[in-house]
Amino acid sequence: MKMWTGRFKDSLDTKADMFNSSLSFDKRLYKHDIMGSIAHCTMLGECGIISADDAEKICTTLSDIFYDIKNGKLKITGAEDIHMFIEEELTLRIGDVGKKLHTARSRNDQVALDLRMYLRDSVDNIASLLKTLVEVLLKLAQANTDTVIAAYTHMQKAQPTTLAHYFMAYAEMFMRDIERFAECKTRIDVMPLGSCACTATGFPINRKSVAQKLDFSKVSENSLDAVSDRDFAIEYLFDCATLMMHLSRFNEEIIYWSTDEFGYIELDDKFSTGSSIMPQKKNPDICELIRGKTGRCYGNLMALLTTMKSLPLSYNKDMQEDKELIFDTEDTVKNCLEIFTSMLPTLKFNKERLFEGACGGYTVATECADYLVKKGAAFRDAHRTVGNLVRYCIEHKTNLDNLSVEEFKSFSPLFDNDIVNAVKPVNAVNSRKCQGSPSEKAVKAEIKKAEKFLLSFFGSES
Ligand code: ARG
Repeated sequence: MKMWTGRFKDSLDTKADMFNSSLSFDKRLYKHDIMGSIAHCTMLGECGIISADDAEKICTTLSDIFYDIKNGKLKITGAEDIHMFIEEELTLRIGDVGKKLHTARSRNDQVALDLRMYLRDSVDNIASLLKTLVEVLLKLAQANTDTVIAAYTHMQKAQPTTLAHYFMAYAEMFMRDIERFAECKTRIDVMPLGSCACTATGFPINRKSVAQKLDFSKVSENSLDAVSDRDFAIEYLFDCATLMMHLSRFNEEIIYWSTDEFGYIELDDKFSTGSSIMPQKKNPDICELIRGKTGRCYGNLMALLTTMKSLPLSYNKDMQEDKELIFDTEDTVKNCLEIFTSMLPTLKFNKERLFEGACGGYTVATECADYLVKKGAAFRDAHRTVGNLVRYCIEHKTNLDNLSVEEFKSFSPLFDNDIVNAVKPVNAVNSRKCQGSPSEKAVKAEIKKAEKFLLSFFGSES
């Protein structure tokens, strides 16, 4: 029997009951729900709102229930939601004393608390998966500071860079994700219990003590807001969506780099799949799935934003819809991070093809113009001269790094013998020494900084 049936003559329609129930998905919150209840009940005892004996009995039984669920001895079924399930089980075990747990509390502040505690842990888990991914990237970068490749803009060859510079670009994105989740955590870290249904309670509760017991650094300031705020969940979904966007970009590159046309990467057999009809195929399904799953994470973010749109104060049942979106995104992000981090070190980079790519497409043209500027030309004039040189190369089916000094000189008297070296892709890369550039020295400095970032963020434990 439901615990709120006092004012009802008739029982709930079976279909309506199923429709109303959230147990099938909010059972994930059982641990946090029990931890929150133990803190609440301890405080009720401390403040003399219930007796110390009752408080102790409730807390001990709650902890028994926790272990029974954890060890599979107690199955979570048959209740409206996880909060009701635990309370019903408690009352089943200790009778009337169990009915005192919900004093000075509502499910509205309870679910807000559970969700905040759950997301606080989730953010830490995702950050630690991101840390492992960045560590893999740093290793790959370290090993490839001299692997010259082409950088692209508009998907057209642009300038030579290195594979290390490329890996580090993605490492920067994932490090920003780590920071974003940490910032999100500061907004999650607010203790809403005590707000009750919507206008708090007349009982002499001690909210600070509950916050302390549950390791929250702040207590919410407005009870109407506290039970109806899901900004922190939206922010979490946004951070996950942004992280998935980064993953989707990386995977897109791996997909087209592994095409026959590019031939830059060969996927490992362990992370590619065959075709049911075309015997020759080796498909990047894993990468495509990660790219594809980005869509559902964007969808979950949009769904929660839309659910919250125009909701009047304070709690509304619409908000029960938040959980499936959050759990689905969480599972997706964790799965994608784990599989991607395992796959990354197995990719085989075809260094010869990558170098050929860096040599084609007149990628050293900018270097050539910079050379003229260093010899005294104005940049715009140098740009035009090198443009003419590129046209000459196209017409003569040759490349800038194949031209003789005489050919260079016929375009500008400022060209000298040292131009031959200047336009070698590897020299073009290493002439870029400023912070953020691809030269070996600059990228090694970037890697060092990233290592320091990880250390300061996560400490030395590994
Ligand atoms: N299952 C509900 C949710 O997830 C818990 C809060 C229910 N509150 C209520 N007044 N019906 O939002």
